[in-house]
Amino acid sequence: MKLILDLDTGIDDALALSYALGDPAAEVIGVTCTYGNVVREQALENTATLLKVLGRKDIPLFAGPAHPLNQTAFAPTPMCRVVHGEHGFGNAPTDSDGMLIQSQRAVDWIAEAADRYGSELTLLTAGPLTTLAEVLRCHPDFKNKIGKVVCMAGALTVAGNETPFAEANVRVDPEAAAEVLSSGLPLVLIGLDVTLKTLYDQAQIDNLQQLKTKASDLVCGLMQFYLDYYKTDRRRLAGCPLHDPLAVAAALHPELITTLPVNLKADLEGPGRGRTTADLSRLNDPQKDHHMAIDVDVQRFLKLFTASLTRTLSR
Ligand code: BDR
Ligand code: CA
Repeated sequence: MKLILDLDTGIDDALALSYALGDPAAEVIGVTCTYGNVVREQALENTATLLKVLGRKDIPLFAGPAHPLNQTAFAPTPMCRVVHGEHGFGNAPTDSDGMLIQSQRAVDWIAEAADRYGSELTLLTAGPLTTLAEVLRCHPDFKNKIGKVVCMAGALTVAGNETPFAEANVRVDPEAAAEVLSSGLPLVLIGLDVTLKTLYDQAQIDNLQQLKTKASDLVCGLMQFYLDYYKTDRRRLAGCPLHDPLAVAAALHPELITTLPVNLKADLEGPGRGRTTADLSRLNDPQKDHHMAIDVDVQRFLKLFTASLTRTLSR
């Protein structure tokens, strides 16, 4: 499957890309970067650093939107620095020397790729939905061409992580999420309902660390930073949640997840701003645009994740 990842790199975004590059089911044709966990330029810098260390300079990198639809600038929340590190990359230094950022806008390149590859192409969004909203605004035909779109976004049956109601990728640009959800574009949504079940623990990180390559040093260092934060998290999870990697796995291996067909909407007002709920006005609509993940085969996913990451990090 040809795969484009739209990332706000961020530690779990870096893990998602590292995982995808090691899964034989994926052919990553490019990465687009947007704001979210960090500002867009930092997401590009972090992604370029990762691709360089992984020896994948061949993967083209594009710049997406730098701020939410209704804003002119963006600054990440202080919490992002706590979870992902000062620059979104744990405390790892970045080095993107020799790496190129393509001059074409991410939004146009994604639409062109959908023209070229059609049903063979999957777009995976692991950041705010701004890139996808802009693709739909600028290229209305995109929704009839793209094979599949999978988003790490939202929460249906569990509380939010950015606010008590809202998941971070939706909360950061609820207007973009609302546009995407009401566009008629079929979506698979991997939200907190399932990502909070897929946890990576200290023993699993220690195991990967045994690879002792430059790539495993970097990626395990990122994971350790992320896990150390989760050890202090009030939810007392038994590891760090693999939000974005699970979305990639769900795109490549849909049998891992159970989904609920539903029409979702994003709330825009009041304390529930950024919350995803079922659109009650479409309750009896036989057409269901969204497939919201409500369960996951955790053990199978963790096995796949570890095997693919091992492949990426061994090179
Ligand atoms: C999502 O928010 C970001 O902080 C993570 O990278 C992930 O995409 C989880 O809610
Ligand atoms: Ca992300």
